[in-house]
Amino acid sequence: MFRFGVDYYPEHWPEERWTTDARLMQEAGFNTVRLAEFAWSKLEPQEGRFDFDWLDRAVDILSRRQIQVILGTPTASAPPWLLQRHAEIFRMRQDGQRVTYGNRRGTCPNSPLYRHYAGRIVAQMAAHFHKAPALIGWQIDNEFGERCYCPQCQQAFHAWLRSRYQTLDELNHKWGTVFWSQVYTDWDEIPLPLATGGSPNPSLALDYDRFMSDSYVDFQRCQVETIRSQCPGSQITHNFMGFSFDQVNYFDLARDLDLVSLNYYPRSQWNMQAEVDPSEFALALDTMRGLKHQNFWMMEQQAGPGGWEMISVQPRPGELRLWAYQAIAHGADGILFFRWRSCRYGAEQFWHGLLDHDGTAGRRYAEASQVGQELRALSGAIVSTVIRPKVAFLLSYDSRFAFQIQPNNPQFSYPAHFQQLYQAFYRQHAQVEIVSPDDDLNSYRLVVAPSLHLMDRETAKKLEEFVRQGGTLVVTQRSGVKDETNLVVDQRLPGYLRELMGAEVAEYDSLAPGMSNEIRFVLPGLELQASLNCGTLCDVLAPQAARTVAVYCRDYYAGKPAITENRYGEGRAIYVGTIGDAWFYQILTRWLLDSTGIEPLVFSADPDVEISERWQGERRILFILNFASGPRCVDLRRDCVRLIDGQLIPAGKIQIPPHEVLVLKEK
Ligand code: GLA
Ligand code: ZN
Repeated sequence: MFRFGVDYYPEHWPEERWTTDARLMQEAGFNTVRLAEFAWSKLEPQEGRFDFDWLDRAVDILSRRQIQVILGTPTASAPPWLLQRHAEIFRMRQDGQRVTYGNRRGTCPNSPLYRHYAGRIVAQMAAHFHKAPALIGWQIDNEFGERCYCPQCQQAFHAWLRSRYQTLDELNHKWGTVFWSQVYTDWDEIPLPLATGGSPNPSLALDYDRFMSDSYVDFQRCQVETIRSQCPGSQITHNFMGFSFDQVNYFDLARDLDLVSLNYYPRSQWNMQAEVDPSEFALALDTMRGLKHQNFWMMEQQAGPGGWEMISVQPRPGELRLWAYQAIAHGADGILFFRWRSCRYGAEQFWHGLLDHDGTAGRRYAEASQVGQELRALSGAIVSTVIRPKVAFLLSYDSRFAFQIQPNNPQFSYPAHFQQLYQAFYRQHAQVEIVSPDDDLNSYRLVVAPSLHLMDRETAKKLEEFVRQGGTLVVTQRSGVKDETNLVVDQRLPGYLRELMGAEVAEYDSLAPGMSNEIRFVLPGLELQASLNCGTLCDVLAPQAARTVAVYCRDYYAGKPAITENRYGEGRAIYVGTIGDAWFYQILTRWLLDSTGIEPLVFSADPDVEISERWQGERRILFILNFASGPRCVDLRRDCVRLIDGQLIPAGKIQIPPHEVLVLKEK
């Protein structure tokens, strides 16, 4: 069953209104509602006194309308009675200041006291609701994230380090603490990487980021275990924040869950643009699917203008529907809009729901209802169909954290570089899977590993094996520079990848703002008259076994290789040594896709059209989305049937109206 619905906060509205809400939800085609997220002070108004009656009544009213529920555990916003009594529960920021009361997510994941209270409310809820027939799932907490730097975390960090390194000698060696006389003689001497300490030892800082990530995984696991033991049939999830959030290793966070869900806000006060870039959201969606390599739910999809202090651009007519289909195209088997009705009070007064503050159902509600109606016809054909890309992008949280500590160049950003490469594949209508360094790569033909900065022998072996068996691997500048404890390797770069790449990095250059270089493709068949812009970081390559694909055009390394390609076993390994512009990546990806024989999903398509696929057995379902405000063309390879009404759409050119969606099944 396709889960379609909304995030609902009945506690924000008079009870007399609840039946009207439930009726409108049913009329919109909703079958699922998330409740109780952030409702701790209503569920446990005083320490140890629990009140679930109001929530029982809300669940009951919804069930009468055939709406099932997901319950949120309310632990992202602790009640004042708890925080007032125990200030040590508050999170400490990196500047050493404790967070004060007012917002949410202000708590420390390692606080034993907080874990006690959080564990108790979750256990009480699970015990109370486990038999509720309408209950289908749980969402743990909300958007896990912010790092804490409090004394309790420091203690827990020491325990984490002990189990990782066993002895201080080993830790001192692996961190290189001999530098600046930082050799530790007692575990308790090991500091936190506080901002007040200045530039930290990179190994300590990286381990701290890993430890904080593990802390959230662990905090979540306590709740998962409680719920699983009481409600064995429930689906347990957490609402993740797509690709851009970067403080928790999402692969680890997803492991204990039954499924991943995400929050998705293309238009918010933090993204005030006339047009949103759909490739950004495509990457967020692919990342969510990649965490468990399975379909996911959209737990919160933007339903109206989003903002706290500001009001974002109003979603344009058709956008809510387009975003919903984009999510489905990338693997969503559920979509809940956030939120039902815009709240009259609180910090999120301007975070609009489907309904405005006054409760009337207007344009946005009508658009959601249209999707609801369409899903009735489509969901049978869509649910549980799968996506099987041939291209994988390797997302390394270790490298991502390491670049947060040392970006290498003030203009370099790992996520922005990742996004830029992804965008090039998106524009060529290639399906991409996001994978972790631990994943099996065998089902892919092409693996792109943007700036794989941290490298261990095992990962290097796996990449070698992948290429030996016939795969094509692409790594980009500053790969293989560090070992797993964030020390620079003691070999010629790219370190463990050198033999596979058949090339060395002879020199590397980090350019100042305003400095740039140019690159020229020289490989036969790929030669271009024009040179293309590049810069920020330039690895100057010295091929050994590899051949040169492109060279730099300027500065003292003019004529030296910037891109190399090495035949290795049955496959090839490509090193792209610098950062280019969109045009550069377009040429590069076109060449990569052609040379690996990965066919585009359609013969051709105008820009601004997204094409994605889901597979129902051996039949392909195509999603064609026109994000432009004018009509666009697509040239279909095969005859198709339009799923919504069974109409035949023959192979060849078709026109898609602005902001329209086509869901086709190939014959
Ligand atoms: C997030 C949260 C929601 C809500 C929205 C809007 O994604 O999960 O509870 O706060 O943002 O700010
Ligand atoms: Zn803490």
